[in-house]
Amino acid sequence: MLELQDEDKGPRRHDEHDENKSLEPLPFVVSIVPSWFRKCRMAEFQTIAKVGEIPDGEGRAFPVDGTIVAVFNLGGEYTAINDVCPHMGASLAGGYVEGTSVTCPWHAWRFSVKDGTWLDNPRSKIANACYPVRVVGEEIQVLMKDEGGRMKDEG
Ligand code: FES
Repeated sequence: MLELQDEDKGPRRHDEHDENKSLEPLPFVVSIVPSWFRKCRMAEFQTIAKVGEIPDGEGRAFPVDGTIVAVFNLGGEYTAINDVCPHMGASLAGGYVEGTSVTCPWHAWRFSVKDGTWLDNPRSKIANACYPVRVVGEEIQVLMKDEGGRMKDEG
C-alpha cells in the first residue's frame, strides 16, 4: 500500500522499515511478554524493609514475588524463610523467636530461621524454603529463586 510522505522522501510502503513503527509492540506480544519475562529473568535481591523496621528477636512477613517471606532479626543478622507453616499455614513471622528457632504460634512446631529445618524432627523432609538476605546501606534485601530454582549468584 502506498501513501504520500514528506515531499522530499517520496511515497513509501507501509511495510518498509520505519524506525518509529518498529518499536511499537504488537498487541499479542504485549500480552505474552510479562509472563515470558518472568520465567526467563534471573532472580535479584529485592528490598523488603529498612533496618529498624524488624525489631531484634522478632520476625515480620513480607510479600515477595507472590511468596510470603518471614524475615527475622537476630541481633542485627537477618534471615529469611517461607512464612507459611507447613503444618496448617500459620504465619511463622508471628511466632516466638528463641536463638535461631521460631515456634509456630498455632501448634508450636519449631523451625530454624536460618535454613527452614523442622527442628522437632530434623530427619523429616518437612522444611521451609530459606532465602539469602543482605543489608545494603539501610535496606534489607531478600533474594528469591527464579522459576528454574536458580539464584542470580548461581549463574
Ligand atoms: S500451623 Fe504451624 S504448627 Fe500448626
